[in-house]
Amino acid sequence: MCGIVGYIGPKPSKNIILRGLEALEYRGYDSAGIALVDSKGGQVFKQVGRVNGLTQEVEEEASNAGLAIGHTRWATHGGVTVANAHPQMNSDHSIFVVHNGIIENFDELRQRLEEAGYTFESETDTEVVPQLIDYYLKQLPSFVAAFEATLRDVRGAYSIVAISTAEPETLYAARLSSPLVIGVGEHENFLASDPSAIMDHTKKVIYLEDYDVAVITKDKVDIHNLKEDTHTSPKIELLDYENEKALLGDYPNFMLKEIFEAPAAIRSATLGRAVVEQNMVKLGGLEGVLGQLKYIDRIVIVAMGTSYYAGLVGEYLIEELADIPVEVQLASEFNYRKEPFSRSTALLAISQSGETADTIAALKKVEDYGVLRLGIVNAVGSTIARMTDAGVYCHAGPEKAVASTKAFLAQVTVLLLIALHLNDGRSKRFRPLIEELNELPAKAQAILDHTDEIKAIAEKYADYRDFLFIGRHTGFPAALEGALKVKEISYLHAEGYAAGEMKHGPLAMIDENFPTFAIATDSPLLEKTYSNIQEIKARKGPVLALATRGNKAITKFCSDVIYIPETEPETQSILQVIVMQLFAYYIAIKRDNDVDRPRNLAKSVTVE
Ligand code: AGP
Repeated sequence: MCGIVGYIGPKPSKNIILRGLEALEYRGYDSAGIALVDSKGGQVFKQVGRVNGLTQEVEEEASNAGLAIGHTRWATHGGVTVANAHPQMNSDHSIFVVHNGIIENFDELRQRLEEAGYTFESETDTEVVPQLIDYYLKQLPSFVAAFEATLRDVRGAYSIVAISTAEPETLYAARLSSPLVIGVGEHENFLASDPSAIMDHTKKVIYLEDYDVAVITKDKVDIHNLKEDTHTSPKIELLDYENEKALLGDYPNFMLKEIFEAPAAIRSATLGRAVVEQNMVKLGGLEGVLGQLKYIDRIVIVAMGTSYYAGLVGEYLIEELADIPVEVQLASEFNYRKEPFSRSTALLAISQSGETADTIAALKKVEDYGVLRLGIVNAVGSTIARMTDAGVYCHAGPEKAVASTKAFLAQVTVLLLIALHLNDGRSKRFRPLIEELNELPAKAQAILDHTDEIKAIAEKYADYRDFLFIGRHTGFPAALEGALKVKEISYLHAEGYAAGEMKHGPLAMIDENFPTFAIATDSPLLEKTYSNIQEIKARKGPVLALATRGNKAITKFCSDVIYIPETEPETQSILQVIVMQLFAYYIAIKRDNDVDRPRNLAKSVTVE
C-alpha cells in the first residue's frame, strides 16, 4: 500500500525522503509527492508515476529544509492524478499531510468543512485532515491540540504525518491500524510506514501503537495515547535485518532472487527448531503458552492470499500430525461472520508482512474472547507479531517482490514444525519428518538447478489465456497457490481446483486452448490423478504434469513433465510450489511484465 517517509534534523531532508520513498517502491503505488518546510515557508512537489519522476525537480528546486514528509500513493479514494497525490494541504498551503489507510467518515467531515466555507482541491479522503487541522487551529491554542481534535473526529484506519509552516522544527504523527515507525537518530529523527525506508540511517526504532500521537523534533519524541490519555516514554527497539539482504545483488529482480532463496528460507525456518540429535522440535516463540496449548481443541487459521493457501496446507498437517481440528478462513470473511468460538479455540494468524488489515482485524475481533492468539509472521516487530500472545517467526528475511514466494515456503515449514510440536513425538511420522526438514533445503536447490528446463516448458505455455491447476490433498492448496502466482504476475486467468472436482464442472472448460498443470507427485491418490489427466487429454486439453523424479509411467500420457525430488508427503507442497513459482515467473518474463511490482497490486494490503 502507500508509503510514508518523514525527517526532522540538520541535513537536507529532500535526499533522505527521496531515497526513503525509493526503498518503499516495492510496495506498489501510482503517484508520489514531497513537502518541505523551513523558516522561509513551505514547498510541495507531486506527480503521477514513479519516484524517479520527482527526483530531478526536487533536487533542482527544493530548498535544503531540514523538515520534510514524502508519500507514495496507491489510489483508494479518487483517481490517479497530481491533485490526488499526497501531501494534501489546507487552503492556504501552510499545512501538509500524508496518510495511509482510509478515512471512513470523510464525506461527512468534508460536508461540515464546506458548510464552514472550506473549498477542496482533490477527490481524496485525506484532504479533510489538513483542512480540519486548519479549522481547529482557529479555535485551539496549539497545533498539537488542533491535530488531536482532528484525530478525534476521524473514523477509519490511518497512519498520518503532518507538518506546518508555523512549526518548521516539528513532525506530527498519528497511528491507528496502519503501521508507522519512528527512527531515532543523533539530533535527527525519522518516520516511515516501513523500517526499510530508514534503516540506512538508524537501527533504533519506536513502533507507534494504535491511538498514539507523536510530536517529534530533532532531539525529542513525545507520545500521547489518545485512547488511554497517557504520555508514554518511548520504547526504543533495534531493527534486526541488514539492508544488504534486501538489496538485489546480481539478480534481475527481487522475485527471482527470492525464489532462489528457497533453500535458505527453509533452512532458516528450520534452524535450531527441528533438532534431529535430540529427536525434538523446539519453538521458543511458543514456550510462554505451552500450558494453554494443552487445552486447545480447535484451531482457526486466518490469513489472506498466499498466506491463506499456506494455512490450507497447514490444516492437513496439523490435523494429521497433532489430531486437532483445524479450520482455515479468509480473514476478510472471518471478520464478518457470527460463529461459535469456545475458549479452547486458538486463533492462528499467518502473515508475511504482519500488516495485512483484514488479518489484523481478525485478531482484534477476538481480543475480548479470552482466546489464545498465535502468529506465523515474517516481518519482525510488525503489527500482527506484536498483537499475538505468542508465535513463530518465519525468518525468511525481507521479501520485497509483491508476489510472495520464499515466505510461503517458510510458512508451510513453520506450520509443519507447529504440527510436530503439538504432536510432541507421539507419531511415527515425527522422526522421519524432522530428518526430512533438514534434507529439504538441498532438495529445493536440486529444483533450482534445473531452472532452464522449467523455463523452456513455461515459455511453451506463455501464450495461453487460461490455466487450470489441479491437485489432491496438500497438492490442492498448492494448486491454488500456483494459480495465484500465474494470476498476479502474468495477469492471465488461472484457477486452482481439487482434482477430484473435474467431473463436477471444470471439465466443461477444457479444450485445446485450456492447459492444465496437474500435480501428480507420488501419493496413494496418484492413480486417481492419472484418471483426471486421461479425462482432460480425451478432451484435447494440454497437460503439464508435476511428478516425482523416477516416475516414467507418466510420460506415457503427458508430453510435458517437470520432476521434483522424492520427499515425504507432508513436505511435497513445498517443493511443488517452488516449481510453480518458477513456471509463473518465466511466463510473466516472456510477457514482459514487471514481476516485482505487478499492476494493481501492493506488497502489503494495509486497508480492507
Ligand atoms: C501473494 O503473492 C500476494 N502478495 C498477496 O496475496 C499476499 O499473500 C496477501 O496480501 C497476504 O499478505 P501477508 O502475508 O503479508 O498478510
